[in-house]
Amino acid sequence: MSQENIHPVFDRLLGRDDKQRLLGQRSVVVWLYGLSGSGKSTIANLVERALHEDGRMTQILDGDNIRSGLNQNLGFSDEDRLENIRRISEVAKLLKEAGVVTLASFITPKKELREMARSIVGAEDFIEVYVKASFEECARRDVKGLYAKAAQGGVKQFTGKDSGFEEPEGGNVIILDTESESAEDSAKRLLTILRERVQPT
Ligand code: PPS
Repeated sequence: MSQENIHPVFDRLLGRDDKQRLLGQRSVVVWLYGLSGSGKSTIANLVERALHEDGRMTQILDGDNIRSGLNQNLGFSDEDRLENIRRISEVAKLLKEAGVVTLASFITPKKELREMARSIVGAEDFIEVYVKASFEECARRDVKGLYAKAAQGGVKQFTGKDSGFEEPEGGNVIILDTESESAEDSAKRLLTILRERVQPT
């Protein structure tokens, strides 16, 4: 669709700084990604509760919730996953402008998608977190029964089976390995970093 007649406003009377000041925090977007069942949502929930108790204004965005509302018209083809992540990144950017600390947890299976999210949100406010657990371990946990269903051909384009997942190759990424530590310990480690990052400047 042409953008010719669209005129976004960038000079509002109130901006992100005013909202951050009101809330007494710095807004960031924490992007947790990894296979289904790797522990993204569990960690996001633990971190959110701790930040909330610290007095921070937070918001969680996650796969099943966004996909049953805003993105209910999207499936799991490469094209739909890209549109899914694009829209979520725009929502995360709006929350950032509102001064909120956002915890986004999505499989985000490709490097290209993570780069797009980083670029939409703004690199300086984007914290990339890989929640690492192997396909075999996630299949063993099978919290939602999706791995068993996929093994019987009941879930099309299932991540790690017939739709790819690219692990990060170094770079600016925090790795939480939920096979070698508990979700509680991963959450604590992430919290130490975030408590610093959300301090007002
Ligand atoms: S993506 O790849 O980032 O666009 O996916 P996301 O929006 O995070 O959605 C993942 C959740 O959708 C459920 N689900 C599937 N996951 C992977 N592959 C297929 N085919 C699929 N079908 C449904 C699943 O519950 C995922 O939730 P999580 O929280 O990751 O377990």
